[in-house]
Parts: sequence; structure tokens; C-alpha cells
Amino acid sequence: MRHLMSPLDFSVEELDQLLDLASDIEKHPEKYAHACDGKKLATLFYEPSTRTRLSFEAAMMNLGGNIFGFSSAESSSAAKGESVSDTIRMISCYADICAMRHPKEGAPMVASAVSSIPVINAGDGGHQHPTQTLTDLLTIRSLKGRLDNLTIGLCGDLKFGRTVHSLVRALARYKNITFIFISPEELKIPSYIKEDVLEAQGIPYQESERIEDVMPDLDILYMTRVQQERFFNEADYIRLKDFYILNNKKMKLAKEDMIVMHPLPRVNEISVEVDKDPRAAYFRQVQYGVYVRMALILTLLEVNLC
Ligand code: NCD
Repeated sequence: MRHLMSPLDFSVEELDQLLDLASDIEKHPEKYAHACDGKKLATLFYEPSTRTRLSFEAAMMNLGGNIFGFSSAESSSAAKGESVSDTIRMISCYADICAMRHPKEGAPMVASAVSSIPVINAGDGGHQHPTQTLTDLLTIRSLKGRLDNLTIGLCGDLKFGRTVHSLVRALARYKNITFIFISPEELKIPSYIKEDVLEAQGIPYQESERIEDVMPDLDILYMTRVQQERFFNEADYIRLKDFYILNNKKMKLAKEDMIVMHPLPRVNEISVEVDKDPRAAYFRQVQYGVYVRMALILTLLEVNLC
């Protein structure tokens, strides 16, 4: 039985197969409409989420399966003091697979150690968000036609943003990727990612505080929200939250075929005027998220359609 804790749990070849399956689902959804008849997905969300939880639920429903779960710690037995390990032992008796989001780094890993059903990490604190990464990889592969030979700018809260931490690890495995990290001093990418992931493998990266300086070089601009809930000090959040606002003026500096991605939710970091630019890919990214989660559920449940 397999779980998904980090995007690196899949080899590059396995990821290719998963993304191929997601693309086939996009083209022939009817083929998969009953692939999970009678199966149940539990969504265990100890932290708020709209997109990820509903994306998992839509994915399972598109496969003909059923869903149940909770959407906040307050509405689960965690409020009575139940441990994650006990909850997952109990859920294992009800469901065939589960997706867990938790504010504490490593909680889904603790659950996977005692679970008798596949556990998917749907975001653990500031650590990792592997299914967002699968979504991002499918979006990049579908819209740019490749996962190598790319210059990607990651902009915003690179310190706390788990989507960035997961995506950098995943893209670092492809050839000729250059990372440009765009952030204020206080929200720089953690040094363990620079040292252990990039420098250790000789992968080039630059750091910049100004988006305008690097815009013309980018194939992809990955914008992120400043992660308010992970700040200790409200004044710091208020000072940093509007540090970057992508608008049409800045988009003029970019290549004609650059794409703008964002894991969403957006706060102020992308002005709504950019939504009409054909290079804005963030809502298409949401749709790719459903296809890739369908592919993931099929893969972890080992459902093979002949
Ligand atoms: C992201 C997350 O939860 O980390 N959202 C998502 O799952 N699409 C990004 C964010 O909350 O900023």
C-alpha cells in the first residue's frame, strides 16, 4: 500500500505515468466515470481549505465514488482531544482512502504509519503540499509542453509557502531548470532548500527583491499569497502583505508565452485586471487539479481500467 507525503514519493517515471493518466482523464472523462463505484474517500481537514478539499471531493465523485469527512478541527473529535493516530485508525474502518490537511508539519506522516488505507498529504503546515505540486506539474506540462528547459520565477511568501517548497523539490529533478526566487528579505526561501536541494545538485538559482528586474527572463511566474496564518506578529504581516502586486503594467515586461500560475486563494498579489490576460493560467490550474487528483486516487487504489 502506498501513501503520498511528498512529491518525491513518486519517481520521475511514475510521475510521467500519473500525468499521462490525468491527461487521458481530461480527454475521455466518460471512461473513468465508474472507476471507483462503491469506494469511499474521507477528507480529514484540520485546517481551512476550499479548493483542495472540494477538488478531492469532485475528483472522487467524477470517478463514481462517495465522499465524507470534516472541514475543521473544531467539527471533529480533535476538539475532544483525540490524536491523529486514533482518528486514522477509526477512519480506516470506514473509508478506502483519505486526504488529510493539518496545521502541524508531519501529522499526515504520523497518520500513514498506523493507517490501513492510503493517506494523501493535502498540506501539512509550512512543509509540503504534494497534490498542489502534481497540479502544478500537470499545468506546466499541458500549457508549456515540457517539464524541462524552463526558467521559473517563484514570487511572494517563499518562507512559509508550502506549495513553493514542494514544487521546487519536484522541478529540481528535471533537466535545465533555473529558479528565480522573488521575495522580500523576511520571506526568503529557506536555506535548507537552497543548500540541500539546489546547491547539493548544482541547480542554478537567483534571488531578487524586484519582480520587474527578472520578468523578461521568465517562462513561468508562480505567484503566492503571504501566509497570514503562519505569522507570529500581525504588524509584520500587514507590512509585507502587499509587497508584490502583479498588474498589467508589469505583465508588459514578460514574454508573450510566459504563464502566470497561483495555487490560490489570491488576496492582493495579482490584480484582477490580469485575469483577462491570456497568460493568466491560475483558473485553468484549478481544473488540472481535479484531473490529477482523479489520477492519484486511481493510482493509490490500484484501479486498472482495461
Ligand atoms: C495553498 C495551500 O493551502 O498551501 N492553497 C491550496 O491548497 N491551493 C496556497 C495558500 O493557501 O496560499
